[in-house]
Amino acid sequence: MKIIKLDAIDSTNSFLKEMVKNSTVENYTVIVTKKQTNGRGQMHTKWLSEPNKNLTFSILLNNLKVKLYQQKYLNFAVSLAIYKVLKRLDLKNIAIKWANDIMSDNKKICGILIENSLKKDIVTSSIVGIGLNVNQTNFPESIKNVTSLKLLKNKDFNLDDLLEKIVSEVKNWIQYLDTDKKYLEDCYLKNLYKKDKVATFRDVNDNLFTGMIIGISKNGKLQIKFENDTIQEFGIKEIAFA
Ligand code: BTN
Repeated sequence: MKIIKLDAIDSTNSFLKEMVKNSTVENYTVIVTKKQTNGRGQMHTKWLSEPNKNLTFSILLNNLKVKLYQQKYLNFAVSLAIYKVLKRLDLKNIAIKWANDIMSDNKKICGILIENSLKKDIVTSSIVGIGLNVNQTNFPESIKNVTSLKLLKNKDFNLDDLLEKIVSEVKNWIQYLDTDKKYLEDCYLKNLYKKDKVATFRDVNDNLFTGMIIGISKNGKLQIKFENDTIQEFGIKEIAFA
């Protein structure tokens, strides 16, 4: 695996995307930087991370043959890879929050931004961006409900060591895309945040509502059951946890 280490860059996802546009890039190439000046999150949010303290990196996955309607399995594999690495560190209550945040102790510790390239209706390659809060202990007021490894374990962690562990675990879990999608789904659901619990959500019009998360639909939407026993499915743009 090739790891390219940079001091500062706008966004590791954007940098890797440009590299792929302009040259042939080896599968599992990793771009990691000490500082991002324009870190990007899901739904056009910003990813803020204190320089030198955390992991901000992207992995290129080439040679994929994932059908568009099955791209949820890619999310499952990446989320599970990080989940497993954190689990080994013995963190409190780790869970995967749909679609692909990792939580510990009910607070967000890791965000994932997966950007896929398509040929017709097949995902052929993917840039997997990962932001993991490691040694940062002070977060801006604007970032709510967040934590880091250091806040949880009271010690510093080695960034290179964690990076290697995560990349090798991503490689492991990606194999299941070809061999056992059901296993990916079962593991994801087993570790899904608030699964079978009543939670409060916010819809696109900012209305709050409660319901129970019961699963993930065929095409990756969150399935919520309401008090009157009806079930509705929500896409990532249609719902947020309140
Ligand atoms: C989210 O939770 O909204 C996803 C955050 C993803 C952040 C990572 S940091 C490395 C990579 N480069 C980016 O610009 N974003 C991802």
